[in-house]
Amino acid sequence: MADTRTPAQTPDLVWHSHTVTPAERAALKGQRPCIIWLTGLSGAGKSTLANELECALLSMAHHCYLLDGDNVRHSLNKDLGFSPQDRVENIRRIGEVAKLFVDAGQIIITAFISPYKADRQMVRELVAADEFVEIYVKTPLAVCEERDPKGLYAKARAGLIKGFTGIDSPYEAPENPELEIDTSALSLEACVHKVLRYLQDADRIRAVPAQSE
Ligand code: ADX
Repeated sequence: MADTRTPAQTPDLVWHSHTVTPAERAALKGQRPCIIWLTGLSGAGKSTLANELECALLSMAHHCYLLDGDNVRHSLNKDLGFSPQDRVENIRRIGEVAKLFVDAGQIIITAFISPYKADRQMVRELVAADEFVEIYVKTPLAVCEERDPKGLYAKARAGLIKGFTGIDSPYEAPENPELEIDTSALSLEACVHKVLRYLQDADRIRAVPAQSE
């Protein structure tokens, strides 16, 4: 009979310990790797903020990478839709990828709705306590809907998209995120600055340059 166990469940799979350690990879880059996890509604400004943040960190000579929901859904996760199970799997895979980046010594920025608390908690637990920085991009639904950059809220209201987050699919807001940012209340520059200040105060990045003070 065929063996239906997944490879990870068989005793034939052995974890290899590598000689180069995560600490050595991070030391070579001169930084403390972490996951900067942006969560919030569609249209909240996660991708825009993540993009600017990556630019700012790069200009401070940090090695970082950006994983963005829409892009990853065109590649690694192109087999996934928006059912609750698929969203769970989406975040599980992103969490594992993000963890690999941390092992590689990188600062990884992710921009996914990630609507379920349990999934965000699962990712948090994949890395050390101070390596997961959850940022709730807390732009009100009314503003996201007004922006409607991809016309998806209009489609959801018209019943053309079922299970749209915030309309007929839940978004479970973080209770204790490391940071909250309302992109409708601050300029993009101020939003980026707020994140950089947090990261600096938490001793995750180099000193923020004076010109962005
Ligand atoms: S998540 O819920 O699984 O974390 P993800 O961040 O990857 O979502 O993708 C969200 C993007 O997919 C949205 O910004 C939007 O462009 C698009 N999208 C398409 N259908 C839906 C839907 N039903 N709910 C939310 N976003 C959707």
